[in-house]
Amino acid sequence: MKKVTNNHFNCQKHLDYCVAQAKKTLEQLPQNEMIPRSIPPGNKHWNLVNFEDWTSGFWPGILWQLYEYTRDKSWKTKAEYYSNLLLPLSTRPAKDHDLGFQVFLSLGQGFRLSKKAKYKQALLKTANRLASLYNPKVGTILSWPGMVKKMNWPHNTIIDNMINLELLFWASSESRELSEIARQHAHTTMHNHFRKDNTCYHVVVYDPKNGNKIKGVTHQGYSDESMWARGQAWAIYGFTMTFRLTRDYQYLEFAQKVTDVYLDRLPKNGIPHWDFNVPNTSQEPLDASAAAITASALLELCGYVTDPKRAHYFKNQAVNMIQTLSTPSFQSCNNNPAFLMHSTGHYPLGSEIDYSIIYADYYYLEALIRLKKIQEGCLSFNTTDLN
Ligand code: GLY
Repeated sequence: MKKVTNNHFNCQKHLDYCVAQAKKTLEQLPQNEMIPRSIPPGNKHWNLVNFEDWTSGFWPGILWQLYEYTRDKSWKTKAEYYSNLLLPLSTRPAKDHDLGFQVFLSLGQGFRLSKKAKYKQALLKTANRLASLYNPKVGTILSWPGMVKKMNWPHNTIIDNMINLELLFWASSESRELSEIARQHAHTTMHNHFRKDNTCYHVVVYDPKNGNKIKGVTHQGYSDESMWARGQAWAIYGFTMTFRLTRDYQYLEFAQKVTDVYLDRLPKNGIPHWDFNVPNTSQEPLDASAAAITASALLELCGYVTDPKRAHYFKNQAVNMIQTLSTPSFQSCNNNPAFLMHSTGHYPLGSEIDYSIIYADYYYLEALIRLKKIQEGCLSFNTTDLN
């Protein structure tokens, strides 16, 4: 791997770039309750979605992070406007596991930064809705109820679901049962979702009656046995976060294992193709979102690892990823108002290939803010300190 020695990467310059790009997005948004999701290559305009889309929390989450960075109240006003759009998610039955992504990054950050009681109430209600998808026989949340019949996946759990546990852990101050569900989901996933080489399946299908694992398959990856880049990134992020919230060292060890296999197989510049097993990689699109998620996760992981060499290794790898993402090859600059280009959403479906995608921007911003805090000597960036 490339050795990174530059500890003086200019985070502020790139955070200011994000501020400028987000202003361009705000100018473009129609203020009709629609939320930016992605931009095709060569286009300057966001494809918009409503609050029900799985990506709806990332834009308000970006606005809260920009408010925290700038302390400028105009960002808070916008963050509140877009967060409020998601409040109805707390009053309707859970459609799938994405509720955590949706509400925790928007209302969760809103509560952390504004302490508004309505956000706390909505978060707690949504956590209970998410928990309604839990099957105690299996020990995981049913990620995609819609795939039960469509794919004949009677109880399916996807690796992405790890990220949604943060909402349940957070809600543990009100309900111990919710954090027990999160703990059990992480435990079951650690034991069933990974191959011997610590690469993960995208989807694991279980028998809902007896909890037995039926098979591991893919939905968004190259093949059932391949390492889908963003899936492995969700695993790195998810198990690092699970260690933070449980202080159970088996998760810290496991987070390092799933990280090692990713870093060992990563191209020198730190940006993976959309799947690590695609043949003829020169032809294949990249996934900047996987790089942004992983960079942010590694900046957290390096703070927990006790071996200084390992901690440096993880931090340097994160800086390498952020440096590459911050070059003109990846920053959108005048091409479009997103922060980054070159993410891949759902390759097998032909959807959002080589796009700018809002979740890449969210985690890039989070990674820049985390790196800035580390550079300033503040290693405590506990994003779940919301109570
Ligand atoms: N959670 C959906 C995705 O990563 O594409």
